[in-house]
Amino acid sequence: MEKSGTQLIAEITEAVKKCGEIMKNADRSEANIEQKAGHANFVTAYDKLIQKTIQGLLYEILPEAVFVGEEEDVHAQIEKGYSFIVDPIDGTTNFIKDLKQSAISVALLKDGKQYIGVCYNPYLDEVFTAEKGCGAFLNGQPIHVSNSPLEQAIVGFGTSPYNPERWDKTFEMVKDYMAKALDVRRMGSAVIDLCNVACGRYEIFFEMQLSPWDYAAASLVVKEAGGIVTMLDGETPLTFDKPCSVFARNMD
Ligand code: IPD
Ligand code: CA
Ligand code: CA
Repeated sequence: MEKSGTQLIAEITEAVKKCGEIMKNADRSEANIEQKAGHANFVTAYDKLIQKTIQGLLYEILPEAVFVGEEEDVHAQIEKGYSFIVDPIDGTTNFIKDLKQSAISVALLKDGKQYIGVCYNPYLDEVFTAEKGCGAFLNGQPIHVSNSPLEQAIVGFGTSPYNPERWDKTFEMVKDYMAKALDVRRMGSAVIDLCNVACGRYEIFFEMQLSPWDYAAASLVVKEAGGIVTMLDGETPLTFDKPCSVFARNMD
């Protein structure tokens, strides 16, 4: 018998919590930091270890699903059947700096469309979950985006650190929001930023370029919490087979 969404969320939650222990108990002297392509783009032994661990656990949960992970070039076709899209550590620079603002993100897609999202910040023991059409939850409690207007908004943003050609436009937008909103924030984890919109801590989050593993799970959490997520033009839906801009907000 096919597993229900509720069952899958429970099992994926257990898996991300196991991996959260690895993140929390990491020995930074063993992190073996390597530079990837682009400005300040790092991978550590823990990104790789968590990805390998979660891949094994997710295989036990849903063996028929293909797996896409940020590290080690693990890619697959996602348009048919089930696919997991995983970021083992979102906020690797935060992790390296021990800022305690990093998350594990697992999205499950069905025929290329978002079905389930699970995002876990082990430092706060916060798990954000959503199933398409069934609402969004923080540690099992229903969550909703805030109803504050722009003048009372906290605007989270990402700098697209690996894409310097995006920086001018990013900071132009930040300056503009600074004048119109309450204040701006740069947390260092797009997954946590999006979850902050979902539960009403932020009203807006934007980043000019992100990859599917950064938003495949958390953007579903925002939408199921009553928010709107598109590309920066305000209308184009996000793509899950290639990078795009992300603009999440509580209202239009
Ligand atoms: C990064 C974080 C960061 C965002 C970058 C992402 P990573 O993910 O989400 O906040 O600004 O664009 O790539 O590399 O730490 O998994
Ligand atoms: Ca990421
Ligand atoms: Ca990552």
